[in-house]
Amino acid sequence: MFGNDIVMGLPMSKQKRTANRFGLGVAALAVLVAGACVVEGKVDEGENDPLRDGTASSLPAAVAPSGYPGAPGLGDSFYPQLGNGGYDVLHYAIQLDVDPIPNTIQAQTTIIAAATQDLSAFNLDLAGLTVESVLVNDNDAEFSRQDTELTITPDATLLQGEEFSTKVTYSGSPMPLSDPGVPFSEIGWHNREGLIYTASEPSGSMSWFPSNNHPTDKATFEIQITVPSTFTAAASGVLVNETQSARRTTTTWQMDDPMATYLTAVYVGDFERVENRQADGLLIRDYVPREHFDVVVDALAETPQMIEYFEGILGPYPYAVYGSVVMPFPLGYALENQTLSLPALDTIDPLIVAHEISHQWIGNSSTVDDWSEIWLHEGFATYLTSMYLAEHHGQDINEDMRRNYAFMSEPAAVAPQQISQGQLFDASVYLRGALTLHALRQFVGDDLFTTILRTHYQQSINANTNTAEFLAIVRRLANQEAADLVEQWLNNALMPPLPPPLTPPPNLNQSP
Ligand code: TRP
Ligand code: ZN
Repeated sequence: MFGNDIVMGLPMSKQKRTANRFGLGVAALAVLVAGACVVEGKVDEGENDPLRDGTASSLPAAVAPSGYPGAPGLGDSFYPQLGNGGYDVLHYAIQLDVDPIPNTIQAQTTIIAAATQDLSAFNLDLAGLTVESVLVNDNDAEFSRQDTELTITPDATLLQGEEFSTKVTYSGSPMPLSDPGVPFSEIGWHNREGLIYTASEPSGSMSWFPSNNHPTDKATFEIQITVPSTFTAAASGVLVNETQSARRTTTTWQMDDPMATYLTAVYVGDFERVENRQADGLLIRDYVPREHFDVVVDALAETPQMIEYFEGILGPYPYAVYGSVVMPFPLGYALENQTLSLPALDTIDPLIVAHEISHQWIGNSSTVDDWSEIWLHEGFATYLTSMYLAEHHGQDINEDMRRNYAFMSEPAAVAPQQISQGQLFDASVYLRGALTLHALRQFVGDDLFTTILRTHYQQSINANTNTAEFLAIVRRLANQEAADLVEQWLNNALMPPLPPPLTPPPNLNQSP
């Protein structure tokens, strides 16, 4: 989510002036870590060409190894090279030894995966850093790198269905990446004078650990991070261990529910941990910058009420723990890192705090299967947040949507399902995405609308989904006409008319 001075809550005149922030006029910044082939391992370059037709029979019989290389990408519509074929990751164990001031890491990532084909070689995604060694099933494996594709050739073919471990030892100075879908910021590992945070959506996690970097391959995680004891570290999941030795502190974090790579977070800085366990057992732990303690604790005080509100609509909070790590400087955005959101001093107003909380259900647990489907994350989060603000802040959702509609009536606005890669986080996926849900609600009524949202979420808990699945739910629970309406909102160049106001306005009974 972006600072609300950018998207919502301000007069139209100001919003219009900021329209270009959303990529309408922003040229693509750069391509992902372009560069020449870097051969780090012992494999000849020629051996690493992926087989285009993907069949073992295309190899000359005399030299055919059993198995064939996994695909170097999963064919995402915007990021065809992200992720890799031929295996399914079950678990990542990431060990980071971090020196925040020079920004260096000595690291090891162990990946437990199951082969989905007979594999002679397979890829991981990794940008920058130096790979020192790769072990597959504890045996030395050959490896080489071209751009962000780390190709690994185990000494023996991995058989379909086989579980295998890959241990990558690497080091260097992690650097944030340019991503054509995120023109407003570099993404991945950031280090500001020793304060480290990761903001990776969609491609940036490969700036600090090797992975199958696509949201369709979720896995459980264990993250172990060692920092000088003068720093506090935090990571996604539950803190399970903390040890001290020779002026360094090691903390271990477990994420036992599936997580997409882009939501994996680590933070290092001068934070104070503030913990509260809810009556239902949910642990809320925030990391608060000491120099802004009171204002930040105050801003996060609504967290339990927000969680409760979204639980009422969608169902139980999906994870064992939640919290925020608040940056002690303005960022202009926030991000829904799993169980541990990343806001900043300028992005802790209720609209943004609620937005990132709603993403824990919609985005993190229920995740798109292709980045082009992103309105399902951002449109839902925007609308759920408007519903929350109507319920608990006396905000008029009809007025919210009228303002969104006016903003989306700019000639340059694009339909949410017609975005290009550079418009991945365009205002359209947020605002016209939310308007799509508002129009559906107006058409089917409150009760059925809530059932549709809940059904959509519950059908994709800890999994992936897409617009076709959402439309099928709308068709089944409402009718074809409702599905057609949603389709027009998502795809028509010309925006459908603003639906008449919901009556009575859903917030009126709650206004002070
Ligand atoms: N998903 C974020 C939100 O709306 C926005 C976002 C996408 C982002 N990619 C990012 C923020 C990268 C920071 C860095 O909540
Ligand atoms: Zn969002």
